Amino acid sequence: MNTPRILKVLAAATTTLALAGCGGSTDVLGNPPTVSNAAVVTGQSLSFAYFQRCINPIFLAQLPVQGGGAATNTCAGSGCHETKTGTGGALRLFPAAATVDLSDPANTPAVIRASDMYKNFYSAQAAVVIGSTTQSRLLAKPLLLGVLHGGGLIFLSENDPNAKLIQYWISRPVPQGQDEFSTANYSMFTPADPKTGACNTQ
Ligand code: HEM
Repeated sequence: MNTPRILKVLAAATTTLALAGCGGSTDVLGNPPTVSNAAVVTGQSLSFAYFQRCINPIFLAQLPVQGGGAATNTCAGSGCHETKTGTGGALRLFPAAATVDLSDPANTPAVIRASDMYKNFYSAQAAVVIGSTTQSRLLAKPLLLGVLHGGGLIFLSENDPNAKLIQYWISRPVPQGQDEFSTANYSMFTPADPKTGACNTQ
């Protein structure tokens, strides 16, 4: 059956009007208006200073394999989370990452962000839900908190001294609006010195 021409024109006009009504461009076959993806500049960070002094050493420690007799494992070891040879998912670590001297003015944020220690910080922070120890894979995996872990049980309980350091780091982000190098978090050390201070856990 041959649809009269006037009806076709009417149908096309109705569609164009309908599209214009819902914000679409009149050129139905054209490209959609450009979508702007604003950069995400907000959001909180964890302390880089506390990470390199108190958390990164955990990744290098010879930790007992629970239920494995005298065997030990290293989180940043090859086959585990070592960045090149590891099979440890998204947690990728440089075992030989050098400590950054935060008191040296030459170590600007840009210089630090290019360092291997910063890559370890960034990868570990990505396995954290800031402020929530239970939702953070960095703690849930080695504790088997409702999840499986390719490396098995690493910390016997949340009272494990290493687990406590990770819990403390996760639950003390730098103040909103400050970056990961904020000195506000030097209070996480006693005395409040990122080079000599002991790592607080409470
Ligand atoms: C303190 C030590 C360790 C921590 C904090 C840790 C943490 C993690 C995290 C956060 C993930 C998930 C990564 C993702 O989201 O993709 C993971 C996965 C994995 N880990 Fe570990 N791990 C540790 C030790 C180990 C060790 C010693 C091994 C090897 C024996 C190991 C082997 C693996 C493997 C194979 C996976 C990938 C499979 C999975 O998602 O469970 N891990 N680990």
